Amino acid sequence: MVSSDLEYLTIALPKGKLFTKAVGYLADVGYSAEGLSEDSRKLVITNEHSKIHFIITKTMDLPTYVEYGAADIGIIGKDVLLEETKDVYELVDLNFGLCRMVVAVPENLKRNKISDYAHMRVATKYPQVAEEFFRSQGVQIEIIKLNGSIELAPVVGLAELIVDLVETGRTLKENKLIEVAQIHQSTARFIANRVSYKMKFERINRLVEDLRSLIVKE
Ligand code: PRP
Repeated sequence: MVSSDLEYLTIALPKGKLFTKAVGYLADVGYSAEGLSEDSRKLVITNEHSKIHFIITKTMDLPTYVEYGAADIGIIGKDVLLEETKDVYELVDLNFGLCRMVVAVPENLKRNKISDYAHMRVATKYPQVAEEFFRSQGVQIEIIKLNGSIELAPVVGLAELIVDLVETGRTLKENKLIEVAQIHQSTARFIANRVSYKMKFERINRLVEDLRSLIVKE
């Protein structure tokens, strides 16, 4: 495991919307590496001088790498942490990548209240979050797990509802879907493996402090 080397810090970064901003934040506090780009086919990028490994993971898999200690630390959306409930420390709310988890439906299927959607099908990349939300509302629904382009499902009749992230609202709008409930808001979080946080405390803590000062400045 790369992170067992106490000399190095292994940082997990998720492919996708948070990548560029996460790389920018880390660079601002002196953590960078040549060739660190989202479309790199190389998945481990090392800066020998600074003793850092960056690993690039699929978004949903990132907490797993950190939980098992394959990465010491990582940057990931709260939405993913709520879906992939892993045993990691959530150390800093980095306050970027703001988006909302919502329930949305085609305009013609809009009902007055959530319970009116009972027994309908809900397409989502977030089955745990969706299940928990409808359970909390006392509404039984059928979850259809998809891996992306969720907004397509109601358009072609695969499901009546979706649970998905909204950032600008453009995807909902272009597919004639309307929001009927908000489940939570999400921003990027800095997380750490529990053992790494103890074993590499000074380095991780310094990084936490540096990242915090960056947030205050914004
Ligand atoms: C996300 C999300 C929505 C879209 C929302 O998908 O699942 O589809 O972005 O953004 P908007 O409100 O700014 O339109 P992403 O682009 O990550 O890809 P995916 O559909 O493959 O999950």
